[in-house]
Amino acid sequence: MLIPENLFDENIHRTVVPALKTHPKVLGGSSENLFAAGVADMDFKAPPCVLHAMQERLNHGVFGYEALPDELFCALIRWFDHRHRWKIEEEIILKAPNVLNGLATAAQSFTDQGDGIIVQPPVFFDFYDIIKENNRRLVTNPLLLKDGFYKMDLEGLDRLTQDPKNKMLFLCNPHNPIGRVWGKSELMAVGDVCERNGVIVVSDEIHGDITFPSHPYTPFGSMGDR
Ligand SMILES: Cc1ncc(COP(=O)(O)O)c(C=O)c1O
Repeated sequence: MLIPENLFDENIHRTVVPALKTHPKVLGGSSENLFAAGVADMDFKAPPCVLHAMQERLNHGVFGYEALPDELFCALIRWFDHRHRWKIEEEIILKAPNVLNGLATAAQSFTDQGDGIIVQPPVFFDFYDIIKENNRRLVTNPLLLKDGFYKMDLEGLDRLTQDPKNKMLFLCNPHNPIGRVWGKSELMAVGDVCERNGVIVVSDEIHGDITFPSHPYTPFGSMGDR
């Protein structure tokens, strides 16, 4: 993909459209003086090839229901293989409107009302809403902060997962907002604890593609293959 050198130089005013990130509903009354970091979305334009493809689709002018192109699955499978060394089959891919709906669907499908869902705060705020809105019980296993470095509390996780009323863990990998890219041994330990205690891990990996090369992201789903 060709990305123009000056793509990141242009200062684009997000307020021209009602962007949630800069909206007074999110930033409060005196929004001009605040830096909007609460919602993870772009302040840069999408690259020209993306804008061009969208413009072409727009020019067609009809926006009815569409079948997903086969290329989408091929692209996804190749991406995970080449970029993240995880070989997946098309059969295991399920579609969801977005990541958070995927989490809500998993909660509804594999837990009952009143069941506990474990989160590891500080964590992306929408996890709390999903649990509340689906009448599940919020169970917290706070991350441990030591010498400026966050770790998962695996003993705490072991204790909480032993409670048969706690049925699911919402893992955030890499973890928003603390920025840790969980390593293989940490993910393996989470998998071991949850498997032993019969807790389903639902891993939100939306930030998996934007890590530093020194800290490669490991898809949680790939751990069984390693
Ligand atoms: C950890 C995490 N999950 C999910 C989302 C939102 O994903 P989606 O818009 O696909 O539901 C965000 C957005 O900031 C996020 O940080």
